[in-house]
Amino acid sequence: MSSLWQATGPTIGFDEAAPRRPDVLVVGAGITGLATAALLARRGATVVVLEAREVGAVATGNTTAKLSLLQGDRLHRILALAAPEAAQAFVDGSLEGQRRLLELLEERGEAAQLLPAVSYASGRAGAESLERELEAARSLGLPVETGGAESLPFPVAGAIRLEQQAQLQPMTVLSVLAQELRERGGRIMRGAVRSVRAARDGVTVVTDAGSWRAGTAVLATGAPVPARATATLLEAHRSYAAAYRVDAPLPRAMALSVDAPSRSLRTAEVDGETLLIAGGVGHSVGRHPDPRRLVAELDGWVQQHWPGAERTHVWSAQDYRTPDRLPWVGARAGSGGRVLLATGFDKWGMTGGVMSALALTGRIAGREPEWARTLRRRGTTPTAVGRLSGAFVATVGADLRGWREALAPAAAPPEGEGRLGRDGVRLVGTSTVDGQTRQVSAFCPHVGALVRWNPQERSWDCSAHGSRFAPDGTRLEGPAACALELRAGAIAGPRRDASAGARPGPRPPQG
Ligand SMILES: Cc1cc2nc3c(=O)[nH]c(=O)nc-3n(C[C@H](O)[C@H](O)[C@H](O)COP(=O)(O)OP(=O)(O)OC[C@H]3O[C@@H](n4cnc5c(N)ncnc54)[C@H](O)[C@@H]3O)c2cc1C
Ligand code: FES
Repeated sequence: MSSLWQATGPTIGFDEAAPRRPDVLVVGAGITGLATAALLARRGATVVVLEAREVGAVATGNTTAKLSLLQGDRLHRILALAAPEAAQAFVDGSLEGQRRLLELLEERGEAAQLLPAVSYASGRAGAESLERELEAARSLGLPVETGGAESLPFPVAGAIRLEQQAQLQPMTVLSVLAQELRERGGRIMRGAVRSVRAARDGVTVVTDAGSWRAGTAVLATGAPVPARATATLLEAHRSYAAAYRVDAPLPRAMALSVDAPSRSLRTAEVDGETLLIAGGVGHSVGRHPDPRRLVAELDGWVQQHWPGAERTHVWSAQDYRTPDRLPWVGARAGSGGRVLLATGFDKWGMTGGVMSALALTGRIAGREPEWARTLRRRGTTPTAVGRLSGAFVATVGADLRGWREALAPAAAPPEGEGRLGRDGVRLVGTSTVDGQTRQVSAFCPHVGALVRWNPQERSWDCSAHGSRFAPDGTRLEGPAACALELRAGAIAGPRRDASAGARPGPRPPQG
C-alpha cells in the first residue's frame, strides 16, 4: 500500500551509470542515506548511493514526517536511561539537523510548513509524564511551554508545546536531497547489498548486481545491513497511519499523545486540499495477531472526532529503538572505521537522520562535531541494559507462541491469510494472496527466529528484530540481508516469481 507521500509526491528514479570506485558508498536511499550522500558530495567527495528497492520505499516514504524537537515524552525517558551529557548532545545534534534541513528546503523553494508541536495527555499518568517532559526539555535548553491543544476536538488532561517546528512531505525532502547530490556528481544506483567487507585500504560491497569498491561504506538501511551484532540489540516497532478528507476544523498543531491509545495527528496539503493524517497505533514487529484491528480502531477514533471523515490512504512503517533510546551513529565493530552506520531513530529520524548525516560526514572529513563525539562515546547505563534484557525475554516469549501455533499441519489458508504449520519435519509459512498459495520457510534468515503473518500488510514479519518478507519470500526490510526461502512445489505448486531477491540468497554476513 502506498503512503499519501508516495502516491502524491515526486518519484525519484535511479541513475544508469556511476563510478565503480567512489570515495564513499552509501547503502540506503532514505533520509539518512541521501542526507549523508548530499553532504559528502558538497564537501567534494565522489559518492554513490545503493538502494535495494526504490528511493523512499521504506521508513522515510511512510513516516508522518514531523520535523520536531518535541517528540512526545521522549526526552525525560532518555534522561532516565542515558547520561545527561548524552541527552544534551542528542538535542544539540537534532537542533543542528533540523536547522540544516529547513535551510536546504528553503534554498530549494520547498519551504516546510512551520507549526507548533504539541504533546498531550488523555489521563492522569500522561499528564504527570508531561510535567516531567516539560522539566526535561527546559533543562536541555528547549523553550517548551504548557498548552497548545486548543484546536483538538477532544478534551485533554494536559498539553505542552514547542513553537516553530515543521511538517514535511518526505518525498519532496528526498527529491531535494537527490537533486543536491546529483548536481555535485553523486549517483543513485539500484542494488541490494549482501555483504560489506572492510580491509585496510577500503571496503568491498557485494550486491545482487555486482561488486563495488570504496574508501568507506555507510550503512543507512534502517536496521543496519549487514551488521548482525548491532541489529540484534534493536527493538523494531511498526505503526499504522492514514489520511482522511474531513469536513470539520482541523488541528492547528502537530499533536502526539503520550499515553495510550497512542495517537499522532498532523495535516497535509495535497492539490490545494488539506487532509488530516492520523497514526500511531502500533506493535512490536511480528507480534500482533491481526493489525487490521488496529487500523479499524484508528478509523473509528477519527470518525468519533471528525464525523464523516473519508479515508483516502492507509499505510504503515517501522523504526528501531536502541536500549537507551538514543541513535547509534558510529562504526561497525571490527571495521576499523571503514564501515559506518546510523540507526535507532525511535520514530524520530527526520531530525535524527539529518543529525546522523552531519555526524558521519564530519567523521569522514576528520571534523566530527563535539555533540557527535559525545553521543558516539556514551556508554550504556545499567538501566538501559535492563531494558535490553526485558526485550530479549519478550522476543523469546513471542517465539514460543509462534512455535505453539506452528505445530498444526500446513494447509492453504483463505485469501489474504497466512499461517505457520508443519510440513513433515519442516516448519513452514503458507499464505494465499491474489489467489496464489505460496509456502516459505518459517525461519528468518537473519538469526533464525520465527516469522508471523501480518494480514494488514500481507507480509511475513519476524518477531525477533523486525525483518519483513513478501508472500514469495522477497526481502522487504529489516536486518536480514537475504530472502526467506521459497519452497517450490509445496501446497498449490506455486510458480516462482521472477522478482529480484526472491531467491534464497547467501547466508547473511556476520556483523
Ligand atoms: C509510523 C512512523 C511514523 C514516523 N513519524 C516520524 C515523524 O513524524 N518525525 C520523525 O522525525 N520521524 C518519524 N518516523 C521515523 C522516521 O520515519 C525514520 O526514522 C526515518 O525515515 C529513517 O530513515 P532512514 O533513511 O534511516 O531509513 P529508511 O527510510 O528506511 O531508508 C533505508 C533504505 O535502505 C534501503 N536498504 C535496506 N537494506 C538495503 C540493502 N541491503 N541494500 C540496499 N538498500 C537497502 C531500504 O530499501 C530503504 O530505502 C516515523 C517512523 C514510523 C515508523
Ligand atoms: S530479524 Fe533477526 S531473526 Fe529475524
